[in-house]
Amino acid sequence: MTRILGIETSCDETAAAVVEDGTEIVSNVVASQARIHEQFGGVFPEIASRQHIIHIIPVLKESLIQAGRTLDEIDAVAVTHGPGLAGSLLVGVNAAKGLALAKGLPLIAINHLEAHIYANWLQREVRIVFPLLCLIASGGHTNLVLMKDHGEYASLGQTLDDAAGEAFDKVARLLGLGYPGGPEIQSAAQEGDPTAFDLPRAWLKGTYDFSFSGLKTAVLYLVRDYEAKGEPRSQSGKPNNLPVADLAASFQAAVVDVLVEKARLAAKDSGARQVLLAGGVASNALLRQQMVERIDVPVLCPSPELCTDNAACVAAAGCFKLQAGERAAWDLDVVPGLRLVPT
Ligand code: KG4
Ligand code: ZN
Repeated sequence: MTRILGIETSCDETAAAVVEDGTEIVSNVVASQARIHEQFGGVFPEIASRQHIIHIIPVLKESLIQAGRTLDEIDAVAVTHGPGLAGSLLVGVNAAKGLALAKGLPLIAINHLEAHIYANWLQREVRIVFPLLCLIASGGHTNLVLMKDHGEYASLGQTLDDAAGEAFDKVARLLGLGYPGGPEIQSAAQEGDPTAFDLPRAWLKGTYDFSFSGLKTAVLYLVRDYEAKGEPRSQSGKPNNLPVADLAASFQAAVVDVLVEKARLAAKDSGARQVLLAGGVASNALLRQQMVERIDVPVLCPSPELCTDNAACVAAAGCFKLQAGERAAWDLDVVPGLRLVPT
C-alpha cells in the first residue's frame, strides 16, 4: 500500500490531503480564500501568497490528524508546481521540500491540470479505461486532451481566449453576482429561462478549440442596454431592471452547449472509450447532465468538491507518478505557465 501526502497552493486554496493507493481519500483539507478575494472580484495574487503562508502548516497538520497518521507513515510528498500564481505555488513547493528533506521522502512534482484529471480516480467504482478524452475546464484553462495511458497526453483543443471558468467569473461580475462566479451563476440560473436570450456560440468549425470572449461581450452589451434605459442602479452595482436569472441561464446554456458539443465530436473522432470531466467548471450540474445525455461513451465526473482545487487529486496523481519512478530534484522550481502537453 502506498500512502501519499498531497499539497496544493496554486491559486487561492491552501490544501493538503492523504490518499492511499491513488484512489482512497483518508483526509482532504481545503482552506479557501474565496471570501477574502470576493471584494476584488478575482484573486489578488499577493494576498493569496500571504494567506498560504498563514494556513499551510495548520492545513498540513489537520490533514494528518484527520487521517490519523504521522509523517513517519507517509511514503512520498506530492506537490503542485504549476501552472498557477508564482507566489502561491512557492509556498506549497517549499513546504513539500522541507517535509521531504526532513523525513527522507521522495518529492513528486505535479502539474495542476494533471491533478484535476486524477480526481477521477478517487473513490470510484467504475474502472477507467484508455484511451480516454478529458475535458479540463477551470478558472485558467479549457482543454480537450486525449489520454492514451497514465501520463500520456495529446492536446486536441484549447481556448483561444478566456477559459470557461474565467467567463463564468467575468459574467457573474457583470450581473452583480459574487465570486467565484460559477456557483453563483448556476444558482441564479435555476430561476431563469435558458432560451430567454439567444447568445452566441463560437463553434470554430473544424477544430476542437474554444472561444468565450464573444459570449462575454454579448452579455456586456445586453447589460449596457438595460443601463441605457435609465434604470437606477441598485447597491450591488447592477441596473435594477436586469433579468439576472434569464441572463445567467442563457449564458450557462451557451457555455455548456459548446463544451458538450466539442467534447462529443472529439470523443467520436478520437475513438475514446470514456470521457472524463475535470476542473472547477466540471462541478456545474447542467454540464454534468448534458455530457452524460449527449455523449455516447460513458462520461465520468468527480464529485463536485473534488472538481474544484484540492490536494487529494494531487496525491492521487502523485501515486501513479511514484509507481512510474518519477522523482523531483531538490532544485524543483515553480512553473507558473506549465503546460500539460509541451508544444
Ligand atoms: O479548478 P478550479 O477550482 O481552479 C482553477 O484551477 O482555476 O476552478 C475554478 C473555476 C472558477 O472560475 C469557478 O467560477 C468555476 O471553476 N466553477 C464553476 C462552478 N464551480 C466552480 N463554474 C460553473 N459552474 C459551477 N458550479
Ligand atoms: Zn484548479
